[in-house]
Amino acid sequence: MKLRQLAAAVMLLGACLAGAAWAAGKVDPLASPLPGAWTSDGRDYSAQRYSPLTQITAANVGKLGLAWYDDLGTMRGIEATPLYADGVLYNTLAWNITSAYDAKTGKKLWTYDPQVPREYGRYACCEPVARGLAMSGNKIIIGTLDGRLIALDRKTGKPLWTTETFPEETKDKYAYSITGAPRVFGDMVVVGQSGGDLGVRGFVAAWDVNTGKKRWKFFLTPNPEGKLDGEASDPIMDMIRKTWSDEGMWKTLGGGANPWDSIAYDPVNKLVFVGTGNSSPHSQFYRSPGGGDNLFVCSIVALHADDGSYAWHYQLVPGEEWDYTCTSSMIQADLTIDGKQRQVLMQAPKDGFFYVLDRKTGKLISAKPHVKTNWNLGFDANGRPNVNPAVRYDTDPVLVYPGPGGAHNWFPMAFSPKTGLAYFPSYQSGFVYARQEGWTPQPFRSNSGWGGYSGDALKKRIELQKQADADEKAWLTAWDPVKQQVAWQVPLPRHGNGGAMVTASNLVFEGTTKQTYAAFDARTGKVLWEFPTQSAPVAGGITYMLDGVQYVAVNAGWGGGAAQVERGAGTELPRANARLLVFKLGGTKQLPPLAKTDPIPQPPPLRGTEAQIQKGAQLFADTCAQCHGRLAVGGVKDLRHLTPETHAKFNDIVLGGIYKDKGMASFADILKPEDAEAIHDYLIARANEDWGGK
Ligand code: HEC
Repeated sequence: MKLRQLAAAVMLLGACLAGAAWAAGKVDPLASPLPGAWTSDGRDYSAQRYSPLTQITAANVGKLGLAWYDDLGTMRGIEATPLYADGVLYNTLAWNITSAYDAKTGKKLWTYDPQVPREYGRYACCEPVARGLAMSGNKIIIGTLDGRLIALDRKTGKPLWTTETFPEETKDKYAYSITGAPRVFGDMVVVGQSGGDLGVRGFVAAWDVNTGKKRWKFFLTPNPEGKLDGEASDPIMDMIRKTWSDEGMWKTLGGGANPWDSIAYDPVNKLVFVGTGNSSPHSQFYRSPGGGDNLFVCSIVALHADDGSYAWHYQLVPGEEWDYTCTSSMIQADLTIDGKQRQVLMQAPKDGFFYVLDRKTGKLISAKPHVKTNWNLGFDANGRPNVNPAVRYDTDPVLVYPGPGGAHNWFPMAFSPKTGLAYFPSYQSGFVYARQEGWTPQPFRSNSGWGGYSGDALKKRIELQKQADADEKAWLTAWDPVKQQVAWQVPLPRHGNGGAMVTASNLVFEGTTKQTYAAFDARTGKVLWEFPTQSAPVAGGITYMLDGVQYVAVNAGWGGGAAQVERGAGTELPRANARLLVFKLGGTKQLPPLAKTDPIPQPPPLRGTEAQIQKGAQLFADTCAQCHGRLAVGGVKDLRHLTPETHAKFNDIVLGGIYKDKGMASFADILKPEDAEAIHDYLIARANEDWGGK
């Protein structure tokens, strides 16, 4: 009897120990995936996007060819990093349409369409993109544009549970959307949201991976009504509230700070790192007229993983007002700095600097710019940047480096512990900022408070922008985070180069705006292989091993925010449908030739008064430019190139919503017929100005 009790007690103890080891992250499969697998966005918790595979090398990469591809049936931007485990490749597209493929043959095993209402496209600043998915045991987890977290059965693609992540009580106040990948950390899944450009209150939340039940939630800006939220952020609300002025449009627009992309996890220190986005509205004059740091805009905030309570924060850009987001990849590594081993967190956000932080304490170890910058005059002893007062804009336009496209945006960064280098696409650009006189926010549309699009301000804007455009540059950059300097750079033709991935055989893979997927020597930057993809791959690639063969997979689907900036500058290349491309050594599959594009129709004659055209220009900048390009150049559809039939249907499209299923919702709630008329007049004027040119 006694003996049996003892045996039972020993067994129970064994089970407990196994549980404790799992909880400590020791045998968590996501912490150390099998060498041939790629089971989370950044491959493992360090998010280095570093694979130990070595079958493909500098010597044989020239033989890399297509093993298979899938036409994704969309011209939309594809920003997702696929995942791989157990012979199956998982991928997700615009509108969160998610598929599983036999990773060897490309045969589709299942597709799940969460039926995101297409009108929701209006709430995504930069197209209805999805940057990735998460995996846990038998589940694939997606976060949908309209705010649902859905766990799918990995075998069948059938939903297992669904959770609404957007607060019910602010549904008619804030235009939230999800574009970032959810991340699984142990037994919880963490996801943020987007919407800072339209005006929302940022937060991050953790959910139980098995049930979808809420674990904790943390708000990243103060409650506009001055109340507590009953959430994990309550104890520090006082501290953050003091960094905002008492009045200001943050109260209407929520302040922003959305964690719309990178979120990371340190299983040893049990911390979740949250990279936060820009402020809303952007102009601090309107947002928080008394100034202030406006916590937690453009910050890295560390939370205790078990209960979401505050651990530390480092604000990269105090009082942000240039659309700088600090949501870019956050990579963990152990580096030897000044002879000491340091546990670091690295980020190269939009603001042009490369940051190395102590990830236990949040203290700045070092930061250096990798492109031309003029917003930051240096750091004080506490690591606080000294923001250049000359770049805080009023109604008189000023030129600021970098611009809102960012020196390095969401395009995934990689780090190789072998070379000690970080790899990311970098972009040198300036932008002209000015505040709009007498601006008032409008819910559910782009809310920057920016202006200077007419009269003398416009003249000055154009002059300054010419200066900025003259030193615009783009590279693949390899950065030494210890020396804080460039190791090597490969110049690339334009902005929008894709995410990086690096292997133990010293190969860096990256999509380029030459519309290629390329492999570079991780030590020198020498181009070793380049494959014409017919559409620039902006997403991050992965590599996996199946039946003794190493594969490389990437989505090639030009689009999203980068394409908006590029098209805004008049650059649009003929391109193919988005595709998922999978390569192996000796692959022989060919892509079909590019289809011919239709000639540009001649614009109708000018109409409307100068005043109407100017009014149309401002309305266009506020309401349409986010999808149809600055100054109506490019975008999801170039509106300078409308056919006579489309001109005739203009009001039915813009006010009647007849194209809502294509993602062009009605704007009748915010535009009167005479407003649509003014926008139409402006577009006809722009079409005539540029006819025969770009
Ligand atoms: C959230 C993104 C978004 C915004 C904002 C937006 N559009 Fe669109 N628009 C689209 C999409 C998507 C399409 C369809 C593209 C396609 O055919 O694939 C479209 C199509 C159109 C078309 C038809 C073009 C053609 O050649 O078929 C017109 C006209 C148009 N939009 C006008 C406007 C105007 C005017 C505004 C501002 C009031 C606006 N759009 C704002 C996304 C947007």
